[in-house]
Amino acid sequence: MEKIKHIAIIMDGNGRWAKRQLLPRTFGHKKGVEKVREIAIYANDLGIECLTLYAFSTENWRRPAEEVNYLMSLPKIFFSSYMKEIMANNIKIQMIGSLEGVPAEARKIFTDAIEESKNNTGMILNFAMNYGGRAEIVKAAQQYAIDYSNGSAGPLDEELFASYLMTKDLPEVDLLIRTSHELRLSNFLLYQLAYSEMVFTDTLWPDFTTDDLDDCIDQFYHRGRRFGGLNETENT
Ligand code: FPP
Repeated sequence: MEKIKHIAIIMDGNGRWAKRQLLPRTFGHKKGVEKVREIAIYANDLGIECLTLYAFSTENWRRPAEEVNYLMSLPKIFFSSYMKEIMANNIKIQMIGSLEGVPAEARKIFTDAIEESKNNTGMILNFAMNYGGRAEIVKAAQQYAIDYSNGSAGPLDEELFASYLMTKDLPEVDLLIRTSHELRLSNFLLYQLAYSEMVFTDTLWPDFTTDDLDDCIDQFYHRGRRFGGLNETENT
């Protein structure tokens, strides 16, 4: 089986983790940020090419203002604590989604981190920030329509359409992990997950360990990926 290149994670369960410790929800998010560091460094050590993390969805704006504000402070907490380590580990920061509507401070922190790490050649740590899968597809379709009508794009096929998505320069997503026992995609990478393997774990994101990641990757390698075809052994 081909080597796993791209892992995407829906980091769910921060709120429940905090509640279990009788702490405010924000403590769960803070712990979640520490986990991002741990898992990203480990995934880079494993030779994963890209790790995409769902940091803030277009639906997350519906949360109480106080929590939204805290979620918007996570980039500052993360990059001010760990940017040195990210650079030392040759990790390249990227982002999908939209910084429109994101407070100026968080926007600047992201764009600075992307700029500072742009020549790094290790794993891409790709944050989905203010991201929604449907919005991404609609935006791609709108841009294609413009390009087609002015003659700069030819007839549409899957490959051409994928080049209009925010993930255009990234490898296919091999594995999606969602923590905390929720069995939904929540508008994450709707086009890109067509053939991805999916692992749903009961572990809450703040409790997720490098061993858990190993276990998810193990599950990936024990599945027969067929992409709609047959395995070699079935082919007789
Ligand atoms: C879902 O848990 C998690 C989030 C909405 C935020 C996830 C973000 C991080 C872990 C860090 C992001 C890091 C950077 C650098 C931006 P939940 O609140 O929905 O948990 P619950 O389902 O238990 O309530």
